[in-house]
Formats: sequence, C-alpha cells, structure tokens
Amino acid sequence: MRICVVGTGYVGLVTCACFADLGNDVIGVDIDRAKIDKLNNNIIPIFEPGLKELIDRNLGKRLSFTTDLKAGVQSSEFIYIAVGTPPNEKGEADLTAVKEVAAGIGKHLNGPKIVVDKSTVPVGMGDLVESIIEEHCGSSGRVQVISNPEFLKEGSAVYDFMHPDRILIGTNNRTAAEKVSELYQPLEAEIMITDLRSAEMIKYASNAFLATKITFINEIANLCERVNADVTKVAHGMGLDKRIGHFFLNAGAGYGGSCFPKDVSALVQKADKEGSDFKILKAVIAANDFQKRSMLARIKEVLGPLEGKQIGVLGLAFKPNTDDLREAVAVEVIHLLMENGARVKAYDPAAMEAAQVLLPGVKFAENAYAAAEDAHCLVIFTEWNEFKEMDLERVKASMRAPNMVDGRNIYDPTKVKALGFNYRGIGRK
Ligand SMILES: NC(=O)c1ccc[n+]([C@@H]2O[C@H](COP(=O)([O-])OP(=O)(O)OC[C@H]3O[C@@H](n4cnc5c(N)ncnc54)[C@H](O)[C@@H]3O)[C@@H](O)[C@H]2O)c1
Repeated sequence: MRICVVGTGYVGLVTCACFADLGNDVIGVDIDRAKIDKLNNNIIPIFEPGLKELIDRNLGKRLSFTTDLKAGVQSSEFIYIAVGTPPNEKGEADLTAVKEVAAGIGKHLNGPKIVVDKSTVPVGMGDLVESIIEEHCGSSGRVQVISNPEFLKEGSAVYDFMHPDRILIGTNNRTAAEKVSELYQPLEAEIMITDLRSAEMIKYASNAFLATKITFINEIANLCERVNADVTKVAHGMGLDKRIGHFFLNAGAGYGGSCFPKDVSALVQKADKEGSDFKILKAVIAANDFQKRSMLARIKEVLGPLEGKQIGVLGLAFKPNTDDLREAVAVEVIHLLMENGARVKAYDPAAMEAAQVLLPGVKFAENAYAAAEDAHCLVIFTEWNEFKEMDLERVKASMRAPNMVDGRNIYDPTKVKALGFNYRGIGRK
C-alpha cells in the first residue's frame, strides 16, 4: 500500500517506520524542515528504542521524508494525520495543525483517498476534517475520513505499534474500514470497528481513566503515609483482584507527559462545552497538581529551608526510555526548587539536550553518580533502570548529606535505610 503520514513526531515517525517495515511504501511529511533534513540523513530526532533500526532498514527503499505535502498526498492511497494537538491557553486541544493539514489535503487531492486521523482529537473533529477537505477540493464524497487513535506509549512505541492491545477503526463506511483493517492484518491484533465519534471518545476515555487510576493510587499513598501503611503492598493486594489489575497502580510524584495532562484537560473542556460537568476529572487535575508540588514539600521536610542547598536530580523525562520533557514533573519541580534558592545538578540518560533549553541555571552531570556528588539530597523523578542498579554506598560517600527523596519508589526502603540514607518514598513512610 502507499501511505503518507503527515507529522513525523513521536507518533508519526513510529507509524512511518513500522508501516514501511511491514512492506508498505511510506512517505513522511512534516513542516519542520530541519527535522526532515535530519531524517533524510538518517539522523533520528527523538530517542525511542528500536526506531533507528527500523529506519535504517527502510530509508531510501520503502521509506522517504519530505516537506512537500502535495507530493505525499498525490502519491498515496492512505493519508495519516499525526500532527500535534497540544493544549491551548484554555486547556482545550489546539486543532490548528489538524485543520491546516486537512485544508492542504483538500487543496492537493488528485483522486479518492482514505484520510486516517491518528492525532488525538475531540469528538466531532473527524466530521470537521471531512468538511474542510471537501471545502478545499471543491467536491464531496472523494475522501473517507476515519478515526484510528494511537495507543502507543513513548519508551516502547515501536513494540506497542507492532503488538497493540487493539486496533480501533472509527467510521460508518464499511469498505473504508476494511481497507484500513488490511493495513494492520500483519499485526494479527484484535480490530474493533466502530462509528467515528465513538472511536474519538474511546481514546480520550482511555487516557482519562488511566490518569484517574494513577491519581487514585497517589491519594491512597498520601493516606498510607499518615496511617503507616505501605502503598506498594496495598497496590499489589488491590491488583490481585482481576477487576482492578496491577497496571497503573504505581504511586509516585504525579503523572506528566505529552498526553495525560492535555487529554484530561481537553476532555473536561469538551464536557463543559457540552453542558456535562466532568467532576471526577476536575478532581484528578487538582489532585495531580498537588502530588507534583508535594515533591517540594517532601524535600523541604527532609532539608528544611532550601536556600543554598544542593539537590542532585536523577531523571528529567516524564518516563523512562524517552527524551520527552513535555509536562515532565521533574521540570516543574526543579523550577520550584530553584525559586526556593536551591542549586540543582541533574542527570537523565536521554533528555539532557532538550533539558538544557528548558532549565537554564541547572547544572547537568555526566552521569548519575556525578549528579549525586556534593548533594544535600538526591531526588528521583524518573524510574530509569540504570538508577535502580546504582552502587548506593558509593553514592552516599560522595554526598554532603545522605538524604534521598524517591519520587518513583524505585528503592527498597529497608535496604537504603540500612545503608544510612534518610529515605523518603511515596506512601511508604
Ligand atoms: N506522544 C505520544 O505518546 C502519543 C500517543 C498517542 C497519541 N498521541 C497523539 O498523537 C498526536 C501527535 O503526537 P506527537 O507526540 O507525535 O506530537 P509531536 O509534537 O511529537 O509531533 C507532531 C509533528 O507534527 C508536525 N506538524 C505540526 N504541524 C504540521 C503541519 N501543518 N504539517 C505537517 N506537520 C506538522 C510537527 O512539526 C511535529 O513534527 C497528538 O494528537 C497526540 O495527542 C501521542
């Protein structure tokens, strides 16, 4: 099949690479010329395990990149939209890029196409995309717009694309649904076909539910601290109940990232617009904000006033195995630490380059041990595996004071306390 993917970010680039590896001819289109130049020189602009190998294998054969939307549209049967839908100042999804792409597709249309929306968009956007395309091509019925939300996770995006829990196809047109299903046949995954609007809603409902689950266990953790219970044991006991399950029950410093905060907020805004007050999600947003800020309180509890104190930070990205800093808890809390007069030395295995732009005034260490050196407190924001395997005796010996605030509960409190650390996890007082 000939596929054009518009937007070559975390989702679009993985979509390009995976579809090409499955044997399709793929053309990735982006307005960011610097990104396209890098890609054509086989430089991968993001950190995502397994992605480089796929691009190496397919670039120049079945995979190419361009800034020319016309070339992408006219040479393809399927046009995927995978541009960003970041939050606007009201917290709604900013749909400017999706609308621009829809207009461009309409302008360059040279025959019947299937337009597949992979960007996360509010319910009703698929219909709007279709009408924008029709307006710009001057006729109707030439495109079928389908919703095909993406559920991959950064850090395991290639694996997730190739091994999805389900493929969701939203359209009322049976033939178009079958054609898109064919693209995914090699994955042998369960394919659910539903109407366009329900598909759009499933994506938001799924992300909002997961954010709620994380927030619920975080609030249980806060209570555990007061009643002297251990949230990791509580979560394990809860998770053994098949109706609950173990996933997304890790208490921590709050959720961040490029999806949960913006999607929860966009769903609340959409509900408000439709006259439906989404009370639980409003509480989730407030509770998550509290959880992020509580990291500052936890550090102050250990250190007292922060003026002149040195904080070693392990992990900046919003989760392990990615370099993505969008809405990362570490970035927000580091700003608070510096406002309180602390000095920060940070290390992240993948996100340092991007962090230098976002965090002026922060020193960046060459490795995790160097981040801990001379620190009054070591703070863990991201559960990278390499932090779990550190020689903590060496860490302690290099610190000014052996304080540790573990925002992801990666260490066993009994073991680190036995080593002489003044340790604070989340929900395990
Ligand atoms: N990142 C994730 O983990 C994830 C997971 C599932 C769904 N999503 C959704 O997928 C969509 C894309 O997310 P992302 O994280 O890949 O975003 P991103 O910011 O990494 O990438 C978006 C890309 O679109 C390009 N772009 C913007 N306007 C364009 C235009 N007019 N024409 C061509 N290219 C344009 C940008 O230059 C950028 O390269 C969003 O709606 C997001 O909510 C993201």
